[in-house]
Amino acid sequence: MDTVSAESYQCVRYFCTTGSGLEPFLVDEVKRKLLAVDVEFISGRVFFTTGAAMESIIHLKSAERLFLLLHRSPPIRAPVNQAKAASVVQQSVVGDSEVWKGALGTWSRLRARLTGAKTTRKRKREEGQDEEEEEDKHTETQPSHPRDTQSGVSEPQTDSEQPRTTFRVSCRSSGVVAKRFSPQDLSRLIGSAITKQLNWRAHLKEPDLEVNVYLSDDHCVVGILLSSHPLAKRSYIKHTGLRSTVAWAMTSVSNTKEGAVIIDPMCGVGTILLEAAQECPNACFFGLDSDVGQLQKAAENVEYAQLTGRVQLLQASAMGIPLPSGSVDVVICDVPFGRKFSCGSSMATALPDIVKEMERVLCVGGSLVLLLSLQLSTLLKKKIVKDALPCPATTAAPSPASDTLLSSETNAGVTHTHGENAQLSDGLTLRPFCSLHTHSIHKVSLGNTDAVIHTYTKTHGH
Ligand SMILES: C[S@@+](CC[C@H](N)C(=O)[O-])C[C@H]1O[C@@H](n2cnc3c(N)ncnc32)[C@H](O)[C@@H]1O
Repeated sequence: MDTVSAESYQCVRYFCTTGSGLEPFLVDEVKRKLLAVDVEFISGRVFFTTGAAMESIIHLKSAERLFLLLHRSPPIRAPVNQAKAASVVQQSVVGDSEVWKGALGTWSRLRARLTGAKTTRKRKREEGQDEEEEEDKHTETQPSHPRDTQSGVSEPQTDSEQPRTTFRVSCRSSGVVAKRFSPQDLSRLIGSAITKQLNWRAHLKEPDLEVNVYLSDDHCVVGILLSSHPLAKRSYIKHTGLRSTVAWAMTSVSNTKEGAVIIDPMCGVGTILLEAAQECPNACFFGLDSDVGQLQKAAENVEYAQLTGRVQLLQASAMGIPLPSGSVDVVICDVPFGRKFSCGSSMATALPDIVKEMERVLCVGGSLVLLLSLQLSTLLKKKIVKDALPCPATTAAPSPASDTLLSSETNAGVTHTHGENAQLSDGLTLRPFCSLHTHSIHKVSLGNTDAVIHTYTKTHGH
């Protein structure tokens, strides 16, 4: 069983929820930013141990919510008899009271630090005060009992005077357990076991803490929510567009370097640029969009995030980017699809020309990161690759055909519809897309639909 025992080493075992497909991004992020160890993941959840400051943990960009892990146990095997099954669920989820009591202490301490970290950030923003000094002050004065967190009471109390900890249970289940018990039944069962064993009091509206339970045929995960404010909700974004976690994931695979020029040729309200600008303070950003309304919101977002001067916005078409060839280090783009930005069949038709234009403005060694619908992803992978031919590259070894974006309209020795192809002295034509080498492909969830992040590197010039 996986428990919070690592706390004795000044480390704590946490887990974060994240969107489906973003688990590898979060695994990488907690290792890199928090130096986390024992990092493991299951669908939608990443487990890790770290002694990092709460200030760093709450700044994770690919996480949705943060929890203290109580335990992660083998899946529940409920007996056929319903009453016995209920008892097994209660035992499996609640288990050892001592683990819960220890966890409550850890939770209170972490909550105090969290409040300190938030107060520090708020003050720092408002007054520009010294961060370290302020954090120490607030951490020291935080209450140690969960009740105190709400009431502000910090006087010592005897055991008999201690107010009872209040809680609510939030339960998600699937598989056999879900067929046997509704989420409400499970919450009630688990709630009554917690009350009985720990003397905590159920309080649905404003509990001290929220116990989070996830039961499936493969997993039994129990944790306590650390912050009711989702990590994925960005304080620097006024108008929301693409999910911020997905926008951040796109920037994380873009290989952005100091001083880089980064463009989003279909920037919408600018979510991707804002995420990239937070990560890379010394880069220069351009956002293009054909829609004035979107650009207006993007401008408000840029101002709200205090990025005026670092992000330039421009009304233009992605089919004719007003920048010189080879002048951009990173092109990153959430290509319109779905109901909100539906282009009917035209986006499928326009995509080759749009990608060709992106390839043109990219410098050699630059990155192209695209978020595509499953349909557009398949189009690029299958239809466009279908007629792949060895590319008459002047530098770098040709990529394997399946790894290279080639125009479906291209045939050996035949000049095709892309009129701007360079004519070489030996009569060969440099085809669009042939300099784009596939770096990675990740399927991610956007909630109501799935999408795919394609990453390419431009290997040579035209
Ligand atoms: C999926 S949205 C981008 C959303 C953006 N990532 C955000 O977070 O707000 C696609 C955007 O492409 C823009 N667009 C559609 N066709 C375009 C074109 N030909 N050139 C430039 N922008 C275009 C739309 O106006 C829309 O804002």
